[in-house]
Amino acid sequence: MSRKLGGNILVTGTNRGLGLELVRQLIQVTSNKDHIYACCREPEGSGAEALRELANENPKRITVIKLGINKLHGSAPLSATGGCGMMEVYQVNVVGPFLLAKHLLPHLKRAAEQMSLKHGGQGGHMSCRRSAIINISSLLGSIEKCPENFHIAPMYAYRTSKAALNMMTRCQAEDFREHHILATAIHPGWVQTDMGGKEAPLTSQDSVQGMLSVMSSLSDKDSGNHLDWQGNSIPW
Ligand SMILES: NC(=O)c1ccc[n+]([C@@H]2O[C@H](COP(=O)([O-])OP(=O)(O)OC[C@H]3O[C@@H](n4cnc5c(N)ncnc54)[C@H](OP(=O)(O)O)[C@@H]3O)[C@@H](O)[C@H]2O)c1
Repeated sequence: MSRKLGGNILVTGTNRGLGLELVRQLIQVTSNKDHIYACCREPEGSGAEALRELANENPKRITVIKLGINKLHGSAPLSATGGCGMMEVYQVNVVGPFLLAKHLLPHLKRAAEQMSLKHGGQGGHMSCRRSAIINISSLLGSIEKCPENFHIAPMYAYRTSKAALNMMTRCQAEDFREHHILATAIHPGWVQTDMGGKEAPLTSQDSVQGMLSVMSSLSDKDSGNHLDWQGNSIPW
């Protein structure tokens, strides 16, 4: 992969699963000048050992940040989903990413402007190298695909939260286009993580490699869209 990703990159949920693998691979595909901010709920906890090890090996390139929101019970079926469960999942999957992007907006704007100055103030195209928000979504948030896959994952809270995250991505894309900040939702595939389970067909390494390749090629036409880890468009 060519060096199309770089700058200051913030990743959430980095103590395990896809977040941890993203940090691992980002260290490899970005340069020594680039910096990864790795967010995690309990950086000192036993579940963050691998992340601490990675950060210790790359002290000048990784900063671990304590960041968390609420409990998550997204996979519960109808019978086990109440109002609190719905709200908790919405908090984690929608409100969290919303607040994060809102608070980081000044930095995202500055990054986009700096790239514009480098190109003589010409504006230029959007890209992850310039300034971007990538929301990790899910095929299960696709309303059109629901009849095909509801029976294998009858998760009300998770599905509705990811559909809302997709709408939020679309809003961000419209809102921030004038600032040249790209916003795209990416489905990582069904992946062997604690969430995806052992029977999932994809390893986190392959999923992240695919997602980083997709991210490195994103441009204006992709902002506001929902793509999978191979770059295929997912219907709303
Ligand atoms: N795996 C799949 O097949 C699959 C498919 C489609 C979409 N996705 C999406 O991909 C993303 C990553 O999933 P994954 O498979 O890597 O899951 P995972 O292995 O279960 O890891 C989840 C990560 O999110 C963190 N997290 C959970 N609740 C949090 C909260 N309230 N505040 C802050 N951090 C929290 C966890 O931290 P703790 O260790 O502290 O709990 C952990 O780092 C998710 O958005 C998921 O919806 C996954």
